Amino acid sequence: MPAEQKSAGTFFMDRYFFWNDLVPPNRFNGMTDLGIGIGLRIPHYEHILTKKPKLDWFEIISENYMIDGGRPLEVLDAVLADYPVVQHGVSLYFGSTDPYDRTHLKKLKALVNRTKTPFVTDHLCWGSTDGRFTHDLLPIPYTSKAVKNTAERIKYVRDFIEKPICVENISSYLEFNISELTEWQFLSEVAEQADCGILLDVNNVFVAASNHGFDPFEYLDKIPHERIGQIHIAGHTDMETYKLDTHDHPVCDSVWSLYERTIELIGPTNTLLEWDDNIPSFDEVHKEALKANIYIRRITDAFSKATAS
Ligand SMILES: [Fe+2]
Repeated sequence: MPAEQKSAGTFFMDRYFFWNDLVPPNRFNGMTDLGIGIGLRIPHYEHILTKKPKLDWFEIISENYMIDGGRPLEVLDAVLADYPVVQHGVSLYFGSTDPYDRTHLKKLKALVNRTKTPFVTDHLCWGSTDGRFTHDLLPIPYTSKAVKNTAERIKYVRDFIEKPICVENISSYLEFNISELTEWQFLSEVAEQADCGILLDVNNVFVAASNHGFDPFEYLDKIPHERIGQIHIAGHTDMETYKLDTHDHPVCDSVWSLYERTIELIGPTNTLLEWDDNIPSFDEVHKEALKANIYIRRITDAFSKATAS
């Protein structure tokens, strides 16, 4: 029977075996099934330390804690006593070509040992050249040569820090004429060649799809689902002529639709809401993150109904 003629029951039976065989816990996310988390952010420190709110897990920005001491590490140690923590980075620049600074990687590894993070994530981008850093997440030309370079660098970091890596797709605002692959082909190729996981940011898929005119659902369908170790959700800003990844809004309906489709494809998976500007109260951010349960429940209920009939 052609795929488009499959009944819901047949479809979900396929998914049943897929979900159970491959995801959500997999070797790319350290076999974790963490639930729904939010980013650890300074405006929430006091609330978290004094109230110890119920939350599945926190994501930290590694670079904020790669220091020798002080308040950030005190807070981190207190958080680690009560919550699982996963490290997310913004400076590995897998698409750059400068040799890695081993001092920087040693600091990252020291933090990995401190947090016991089950896996480490960073972006599919470049951001440094000739020892200069842009401190931005810049898109890579989608070429075979860039796939090879990027995959080699992911493997180098993974072997150095001795933790699985999930690489995250970015929001972007320009494309290169020399690209030979689509973004989803590039992401898939890098993940296969590096044998790494994917941190699928569905807001970034939406922003990039809107800015470059590709189909975000085709993107979701064609990436290697068994490699997805985590999902990011976030808000962005509509600038009328383009979408800007600002992390300062609730998640919009279009991004939730992509989230729901992802859950349909891979099953419930580690999910994290990013909110980095105009940050509301802890409770408000957490409430927004927990909306993910609506979509998870809708998919799992449909699955239960299909398999019961
Ligand atoms: Fe993200």
